[in-house]
Amino acid sequence: MKAIVVEGTKGEPELVWREVADVAYGPDEVLVAVRATAVNRADLSQARGNYPPPPGASEILGLEMAGVVTAVGPNVRGWQPGDRVCALLLGGGYAEQAAVPAGMLMRLPDEWTFVMGTAVPEVWFTAFINLFWEGGLQEGEAVLIHAGASGVGTAAIQLARAAGARVLVTASAEKLASCRALGAEVAIDYKAEDFVTAVSTATHGEGVDVILDPVGGSYLERNVRSLRRFGRLVNIGTLGGVQGEMNTGLLLGKRLKIVGSTLRTRPLAEKIAITQQFTERFWPGLRAGALRPIIDRTFAIAQAQQAHEYVAQNKNVGKVVLVVGE
Ligand SMILES: NC(=O)c1ccc[n+]([C@@H]2O[C@H](COP(=O)([O-])OP(=O)(O)OC[C@H]3O[C@@H](n4cnc5c(N)ncnc54)[C@H](OP(=O)(O)O)[C@@H]3O)[C@@H](O)[C@H]2O)c1
Repeated sequence: MKAIVVEGTKGEPELVWREVADVAYGPDEVLVAVRATAVNRADLSQARGNYPPPPGASEILGLEMAGVVTAVGPNVRGWQPGDRVCALLLGGGYAEQAAVPAGMLMRLPDEWTFVMGTAVPEVWFTAFINLFWEGGLQEGEAVLIHAGASGVGTAAIQLARAAGARVLVTASAEKLASCRALGAEVAIDYKAEDFVTAVSTATHGEGVDVILDPVGGSYLERNVRSLRRFGRLVNIGTLGGVQGEMNTGLLLGKRLKIVGSTLRTRPLAEKIAITQQFTERFWPGLRAGALRPIIDRTFAIAQAQQAHEYVAQNKNVGKVVLVVGE
């Protein structure tokens, strides 16, 4: 099969589409002919040698895919060759074949393209577990979603709205209208405005209940100030660096919780539970079109390098998808 292989140097990786060994699949897995995969920030870090895959995962980039089942392991029930599926992966999406534990498969609705299917798993699962499992977001609460126009952000806005929460976001000026169209009530141009002041104004000085934050260090102090009593800060990334300071007096006084969370490092059983719980609660909304995977643009898989550069330049609203085959 063909796959993207990382060549070049650590600082300047080159993503090359070339022949590699076929994928082997286990007794509890299916083999999928990949039709589409998608770019995630983690792929950019992995290509630069900064985010090694967890033990047992494929060395090939790619945390999700959509495609057609071509073979089924002997212990697998309920799936057969020809089924159209999408799934979160431990790795290995930037390839013509992927081995997927059967418990992680989601069935593609007939009317869905593979491009739509691959735009769901990584960012919708990330938004789901961090808003609801880690953040404990409840109906009627207010959530601040940083990088609101990112893949994760566009999913999080929709999930939070579907759960009956009030949504505030930060994003670049040119992306604010997209966030509003998805359901954000307050959209803050974080480059022009102080988000702490904007959050305070929008919440009459109360602050928000939950913050979903991929920025990290540089936002820590302002996030803590933006939370109301019993607020929860869920950190999912370090776009703004790893070091930060905060007033620990506010942490105690407001009885806040700060959580760090990654999807990729969770054990397989947990990923299967996420797949099942997400599918049960939100797949009907996605099927009905009430929730939509947001796709910025597609690239052919052989242009993965250009796709990575596009994402690194913060140009996208929603997902950047790599098309692997018809
Ligand atoms: N912990 C997990 O399990 C997990 C899983 C998936 C993703 N993530 C993280 O979640 C984040 C979003 O991922 P994604 O794939 O959805 O990203 P994405 O679509 O590539 O979007 C990221 C956006 O973040 C904004 N941004 C970049 N640098 C920033 C900075 N220093 N300060 C503020 N905003 C900044 C940019 O939008 P603007 O133009 O609006 O600034 C950029 O387009 C990433 O940090 C990723 O690593 C974490």
